[in-house]
Amino acid sequence: MPRRILLDVDTGTDDALAILYALGHPELEVLGISCVAGNVPIDQVVINTCKVLDAAGATGIPVAAGAFQPLLESARRTGKSHGVDGLGGIRLPATSRQRSPLHAVELLHQLIMASTQRVTLVTLAPKTNVALLLTMYPEVATRLDHIIFMGGATAGGNVTALAEFNVWQDPEAAQCVIQSPVPITLYGLEAFSRPTVDRADADRFRAHGHSAVRLAGELLYRRRPRSEESNRYVGLLGDAGALILLTNPELFATGKFPVRVNLVGIGRGQTIIDQRPGPRDAAEPDLWPRIAVVVDLDIAQVASAFVKTIEGYAS
Ligand code: RIB
Ligand code: CA
Repeated sequence: MPRRILLDVDTGTDDALAILYALGHPELEVLGISCVAGNVPIDQVVINTCKVLDAAGATGIPVAAGAFQPLLESARRTGKSHGVDGLGGIRLPATSRQRSPLHAVELLHQLIMASTQRVTLVTLAPKTNVALLLTMYPEVATRLDHIIFMGGATAGGNVTALAEFNVWQDPEAAQCVIQSPVPITLYGLEAFSRPTVDRADADRFRAHGHSAVRLAGELLYRRRPRSEESNRYVGLLGDAGALILLTNPELFATGKFPVRVNLVGIGRGQTIIDQRPGPRDAAEPDLWPRIAVVVDLDIAQVASAFVKTIEGYAS
């Protein structure tokens, strides 16, 4: 039986790759998608998400708009790494897909409580929707089997020297999720930034007969690694790697550590992941939530799993 999942996204180029992977994998059943402001404003996130579903030919998957800004601060843009429209300017047909009339938090609540099987929540965006869900409807914690938390970093950040974008955008929401009773696996920048796809695979995708595969190829070309090997590789998988953690856990190594979010000062938005061997000198970290953190992965096999699934779309 496929694993029932919910996706929480701020559809930029890597969320789009993650959605295509989830829709294409036979062991995953996407119950619905909640959108939150992040890479682009909320309405553009919804449009981008609907366009990706259109390319995949997906039916029966509700898409809902959620938080248009973080809990405390206004939404902040960080440059154009996903292009002005969030999908790297890839020309896609206008979508006629209707968003759910429900707020994303209500949609998540309804889908979780209606499921006869426990659900996995994969959050690839600022954590505002998920924090609101867990606060407004604490009963969902007993119906979620896991939260895959794309965000944070063991060492340096991306949007600041210390903070990763999804946590930086809404640090209070991230802390709220981290301290929830639901088992969490944190997929941070150290894992996020490593799997890439060969240019040859991306070129094959771009010439494929299925629109989902062609879109994946175009998206990969919008996500070039900064490594010296960019001649061979094009697409940093980013968020999509967090879905491969679900389908191929054997490709990842994790450790459990005390984690908390820095909410103040120059380090605001930093995830403090205390990897020191315990017991610790200062008692406080031992009082922090201990969550699983991805510490290593087989980047070649992760990329291969992505390529295999995307090629599974029948042309
Ligand atoms: O820091 C990377 C994360 O922020 C990714 O999820 C990207 O899509 C943005 O949401
Ligand atoms: Ca994202």
